[in-house]
Amino acid sequence: MSNLMLCKRRRAGTAVALAFALLGLDAQSAQPAQGKPLPDAEVQARADALLAKMTPEEKAGQITQYFDFGDPQDSKRVLDEMAAGRAGSLLFVYDPAELDRLQHMAVERTRLKIPLLFGFDVIHGFRTIMPVPIAVAASWDPDVAEKGQTVAAAEARAAGLHWAFAPMVDIARDPRWGRIIEGAGEDPYLGAAMAAAQVRGFQGDFIGSSGHIISGPKHFAGYGAALGGRDYDEANISDSELWNTYLPPFKAAVDAGAGNIMSAYMALNGVPGAGNRWLLTDVLRKQWGFKGFVVTDAGAAHDLLTHEFVATEPDAAVRALQAGVDMEMSPPFGTSVFKTLPQSLAKGTVTMAELDTAVRRVLEAKIRMGLIEKPYVDLKQAQRVLTDPQHRVVSRAAAERTAVLLRNEGGLLPLDPNKLKSIAVIGPLADSARDTLGPWVFAFDLNETVTVLGGIKAKAGSKVRVDYSPGVTMPARLHPSIFDQDPKMIAKRVEVDDASELPHAVALAKASDVTVLVLGEAQNMIGEQASRSSLDLPGRQQELLDAVIATGKPVVVLLMSARPLDLKNSKPGALMNIWYPGTQGGAAVANLLFGEVSPGGKLPYTWPRNLGQIPMPYAHLRSHQPNTGEQRYWNEPNSPLYPFGFGLSYSTFEFSNLKLDRQTIAPGESVPVSVDVRNTGGRAADEVAQLYLHQRYGSSARPVRELKGFQRVTLKPGETRTLRFELTTAELSYWTSAKHAWVQDETTFDVYVGNSSQAALTTTFEVSKSRR
Ligand code: NOJ
Repeated sequence: MSNLMLCKRRRAGTAVALAFALLGLDAQSAQPAQGKPLPDAEVQARADALLAKMTPEEKAGQITQYFDFGDPQDSKRVLDEMAAGRAGSLLFVYDPAELDRLQHMAVERTRLKIPLLFGFDVIHGFRTIMPVPIAVAASWDPDVAEKGQTVAAAEARAAGLHWAFAPMVDIARDPRWGRIIEGAGEDPYLGAAMAAAQVRGFQGDFIGSSGHIISGPKHFAGYGAALGGRDYDEANISDSELWNTYLPPFKAAVDAGAGNIMSAYMALNGVPGAGNRWLLTDVLRKQWGFKGFVVTDAGAAHDLLTHEFVATEPDAAVRALQAGVDMEMSPPFGTSVFKTLPQSLAKGTVTMAELDTAVRRVLEAKIRMGLIEKPYVDLKQAQRVLTDPQHRVVSRAAAERTAVLLRNEGGLLPLDPNKLKSIAVIGPLADSARDTLGPWVFAFDLNETVTVLGGIKAKAGSKVRVDYSPGVTMPARLHPSIFDQDPKMIAKRVEVDDASELPHAVALAKASDVTVLVLGEAQNMIGEQASRSSLDLPGRQQELLDAVIATGKPVVVLLMSARPLDLKNSKPGALMNIWYPGTQGGAAVANLLFGEVSPGGKLPYTWPRNLGQIPMPYAHLRSHQPNTGEQRYWNEPNSPLYPFGFGLSYSTFEFSNLKLDRQTIAPGESVPVSVDVRNTGGRAADEVAQLYLHQRYGSSARPVRELKGFQRVTLKPGETRTLRFELTTAELSYWTSAKHAWVQDETTFDVYVGNSSQAALTTTFEVSKSRR
């Protein structure tokens, strides 16, 4: 998507709260409940009956999706296509009344009365904004992901949408890449768990289930490996990395029943996503049995030309269709290349059977979603669902579970409001509602959004004085963000004169018992087209940080960021990553600061000391010189600042009693593992038990550690719980380039269990045929 300039300011209505879906999240929809999936045979027969009536032009249109930003001239073009039955789907309309109006037109004015399928970027919430996806991954709790997307689906469905372009399941190992925020970070195991949970949340038990929408995992595949972290640049990924690291979250999403997949923009090993038959057909359909429909990214079928992969527009359409694309997301404000398919049919460069296959898949999605029977929006119901206060409860609870506590010297946190007289809340992000929500949100209501300052004020009560200063100005981007073109999307900034505001902020810090500094990147500095060649705090925030620390007063830094930042060795008393925590972010942060909940999130990526070290995944190979592993750079240690999986708590935990059921198994058998985790501190808190495996030898050299299990648990002080894991063939196999196949070797495995990727508790077991 490249131009949101004319994006209409639309807003979901405000209205009464409604009483469906409590935290159990058995959300009801705007549509009458559909208790079970339609039988496949019925869906196919109905799709075929429609197909039989369609002209080639209608077929090509049915598999074309147009942007509708509400720009009068462009909308007219799109509406003309619709009225002629040459548009199957629209994106970027999200106002319920407008969705309803367009659907009436599609059904009432077209020859075949086929409803439109409305898709949208429902990335982390629709009206109620959840923490950003990387934050949700940091909860290490797939339930948080599932519940959040269940709420998002209920809101989107009630508004009249049918399909989310989410989750983004791209593995990201380079924090320069802005879209790291949309995924689950660097690890395929965590990524797969989060992918499947989100698909379940969006879709419910089956496609078409009440209050749910189709999920479209993206971007297939390899987008996260963009060269230099530069958004849209090519990705060159070895087969081994592709199968073992980049593809597993997609496989998990397909296994969870995702109804759609979006192909990637960029070329993977030289082949652009929308033209990659190996990925879209051989892997996705033939190997994985994917049954849904594939959409291109925006304009990506046309861009097969731009990529210099095909010579003409008709070629672009034919190559995309024959690669396995079922629907073209046409370019914003641009024409569709699929429009040329009837010509190609006539010429014989594409067959009717090829075209019908794609059309059938799109029609099947509409039939499964119940659109033929119930195409319209119940506007009253929409208002009720969109303003359901329970959705905000879900958002707050999610944000509380996502925060990652990175430092807490001398137990500075939690703060005790009874012992404090004054707090200085400082920083350009401390009172910015728009930044608190993060990028990729559109239907939000800023009035419902709680900033960190707002949350602290509400929680601290009237006896504590709370002073505020932005401290410094957040600088602008060198190149404006595509999303900044709509005024609603831009954070309203208090422009301050840094020269006077910075000393003012420092004076406030000096005069307060504790300072809470909210620093990081503005929401438009991360996301699509928001890659960065630096990990420094933007603007003069580092100067502000250093000056506040120099006061000698206790300092808590809250980082609003979705990539690791380089704080230049500053040592605030406490440091907590709060991500972009969403609608209830400030309330959640206040609950964390004042100890109503203990932070239990863990990093979903490795945090380097500085930019020069990246990429540095924890799951790397051993090398021939492991003993000098710490000396790879002559100027500094090689280790990360904070390892993958790391995060502190207000309590402490101990792992013991790591036991395997057996010391030797035969290939194909499973090993049950158990471990005790004990809360050794003085308060109830969460811990994430993480299990890592290391294979000592085999067909390939394997990473020093790989995550193969995790569980987040809440324990009372002194409580011990025995956790059980099961290591099956899935965890013990991998794809080896030695054989170009998945293998399970006869070998020795080391098992590590603990609360980060540096877990120390260990044991071993063998896989040997002699067991048999
Ligand atoms: C481009 C992005 O890459 C994709 O993730 C998004 O879903 C589409 N634009 C539609 O907005």
